Amino acid sequence: MTSLLKLDRVDAFYGAAHILHGLSLAVNPGERVALIGRNGVGKTTVVNTILGLAALRGGRIHLGQHRMDRPRPYVAANHGVVVVPQGRRIVANLTVEENLYLGAAVSRQGPWTVSEIYKLFPILQERAHTPGTALSGGQQQMLAIGRALMANPALILLDEPTEGLAPVIVDQLARIFNQVADQGTALLLIEQNMSLVVRVAQRYCAMAKGSIVAEGPVQNTSACLHDLEAHVMV
Ligand SMILES: Nc1ncnc2c1ncn2[C@@H]1O[C@H](COP(=O)(O)OP(=O)(O)O)[C@@H](O)[C@H]1O
Ligand SMILES: [Mg+2]
Repeated sequence: MTSLLKLDRVDAFYGAAHILHGLSLAVNPGERVALIGRNGVGKTTVVNTILGLAALRGGRIHLGQHRMDRPRPYVAANHGVVVVPQGRRIVANLTVEENLYLGAAVSRQGPWTVSEIYKLFPILQERAHTPGTALSGGQQQMLAIGRALMANPALILLDEPTEGLAPVIVDQLARIFNQVADQGTALLLIEQNMSLVVRVAQRYCAMAKGSIVAEGPVQNTSACLHDLEAHVMV
């Protein structure tokens, strides 16, 4: 099987700062993978390297069969890999609905349309014509997820999607992630909240200092939760 995303011994930099050190990671079609690790270990840099926002200076990145010589955000989206960025990045002077249509700029065949997104998140339909940044934090996260789905991705990279959100919203998002994955979209979930990870992921990769230091299966049990928490304790 060809992986949707494969990083093979990747070295990545911001300027002279060497952040990722020989990092290898793969996500296969339909998989739900969690990428975990303490603040500052380089999780967002993994995303940034795939998008070409951090410099790839060693190793290889493949999206499906396609080798990314010079990663670019639109290239990733065209190959079915989209990102829900850390901090959401809703465009302030666009409405909710306009923000959704931004995601369709790269249009692939698939089930996701604005009306399907509204079924998933009815609140977005209620607020369709209000400015995106007038939404609450949880609603903005729903909008960022909806915008990503509009590209009909094969794989969504979610960078700390529940950061700063209330537990009731986190529970709602856990159900949504499972629903999206049940429809066939693979997930790479970057998270600090291990109780969310055990509810969504099937497999985890733990990072420290710019590389993967542990990986294994995830079960929705307190023993697994306890083991995973060891990778994110400060
Ligand atoms: N634009 C940047 N320029 C230089 N260093 C950066 C930049 N962004 C992040 N870093 C550094 O790279 C390291 C990894 O950061 P990041 O990938 O954001 O970690 P995480 O997402 O795991 O919290 C940190 O030491 C951080 O300070
Ligand atoms: Mg980060």
